[in-house]
Amino acid sequence: MSDPIPDRTSETLGRLQRYESRNITFLDPGAGWPVVWKRARGCRVQDESGRWYLDLTAAFGVAAAGHANPAVVRAGRRQMGELLHAMGDVHPHALKGRLAMELSRLTFGRWTRRRAGRPAGPETGKVIFGCSGFEAVEAALKTARLATGRPGVIAFRGGYHGVGYGALNATERGHFRDPFRDQLREFGRFVDFPGAGPDDPSGPATEASLERALDGARAPGDIGAIIAEPMQARGGIRIPPPWFLPCLRRWADRHGALLILDEIYTGFGRTGAWFACEHSGVVPDLVCLGKALTGGFPLSACVGRARVMDAWPEAMGEAIHTSTYLGHPVGCAMALAQIAELRRLDLPRRAARMGRRIEAGLQALQHRFPDRVSRVSAVGLMAGIAWRRADGGPDTALSVDLMQEVLRRGVLMLPEGEHSEVTGITPPLTLTEAQWAQALRCLNGALDHLIGARISASPRTRATPRRPRR
Ligand SMILES: Cc1ncc(COP(=O)(O)O)c(C=O)c1O
Repeated sequence: MSDPIPDRTSETLGRLQRYESRNITFLDPGAGWPVVWKRARGCRVQDESGRWYLDLTAAFGVAAAGHANPAVVRAGRRQMGELLHAMGDVHPHALKGRLAMELSRLTFGRWTRRRAGRPAGPETGKVIFGCSGFEAVEAALKTARLATGRPGVIAFRGGYHGVGYGALNATERGHFRDPFRDQLREFGRFVDFPGAGPDDPSGPATEASLERALDGARAPGDIGAIIAEPMQARGGIRIPPPWFLPCLRRWADRHGALLILDEIYTGFGRTGAWFACEHSGVVPDLVCLGKALTGGFPLSACVGRARVMDAWPEAMGEAIHTSTYLGHPVGCAMALAQIAELRRLDLPRRAARMGRRIEAGLQALQHRFPDRVSRVSAVGLMAGIAWRRADGGPDTALSVDLMQEVLRRGVLMLPEGEHSEVTGITPPLTLTEAQWAQALRCLNGALDHLIGARISASPRTRATPRRPRR
């Protein structure tokens, strides 16, 4: 008899349990969590047992042009065969120059900054490459420090800018900061993020109250930068009022501070525009990019107005900000192909169109479960539905149960928000109407099942759910 086929899922989870730091992968095999990914194509992911799932996460927003987009994979493969690695800040390769130029054209080259009320024309952007998103954030924070000479940074509660020691100064959530607080320089001051209207009333409700909050966060002359996500992603898909970015821009200009927009989640078409700041016409001084930039290779970029970036001294042979893999050739090749695909398939516009369908679908859910839904938010293919308990508090349990129930039914979704109370919908921008219809049927079925089961379950016998985090 031949050997039995090893159960790859149990084998992999067992190895992770034994050999990976225990804080990383949340394991709850009894509840079927997690599934072990084997391959992914377009909007679908296959696990080690051969089962396919519809992916409404785009794997943290990365797979914007679809998982394993053939043109992107081809570009990466070709580059691997040609030049697998170059020398970050020493001997470059051609694609690093091409991508830097492309990112400059795609951002500051398309944006027109107004000066004294008049358009001042497009500018050139300059780039610092990194690997992870948080590195782009840290490059932007350092740039602002050099350009203004001021160390202070204003950031927003609920914002997420990554967990490197520098980025943690701007990422407010205690979960990530508290264990290391005594090692942080604490140059960040935090202000409430304005809520998205009556369903999300937290935070400043008017421009005047936001300005007061910003004034209150400042000691004279110490703030060099404001950093914000144009829309908070991990903070719970929170879409601020349209005056938010213009207000930040004005305040920063008035106080000689720089405006850093973290578009690591929102960039590259996610919100129905190439970059989320384009919805309000606000041009930042520095923009942080990552995730969908390559569709799946660890590459990030901080792009800044040339005048601001030139605060860095000219290289004299030993760069003061660099890393071994800076501007990796495979990442650059994939990024150029990914941007070409986003353009060819007109994915930002497609995201805007599909986003309206998704919003309508989520609103229909809200009508079905008015007591359970506290808000629906959607801009392009960045959407969320927030769950509340009968006492009005965030319903973490329902959100987490829902994620596990839809997984059992073949759909991948993730909870977002400080209490994981928001079901996030951030699929590849290639999602089709038929796929969304399938997801919506799945959500309806899962909610019927869960809400029905909860009504009949005694509160005493319900186990406290554990909260898978990303
Ligand atoms: C807005 C934003 N900024 C920064 C980051 C950090 O990126 P990374 O995890 O690649 O370091 C994330 C990650 O989710 C993010 O959503």
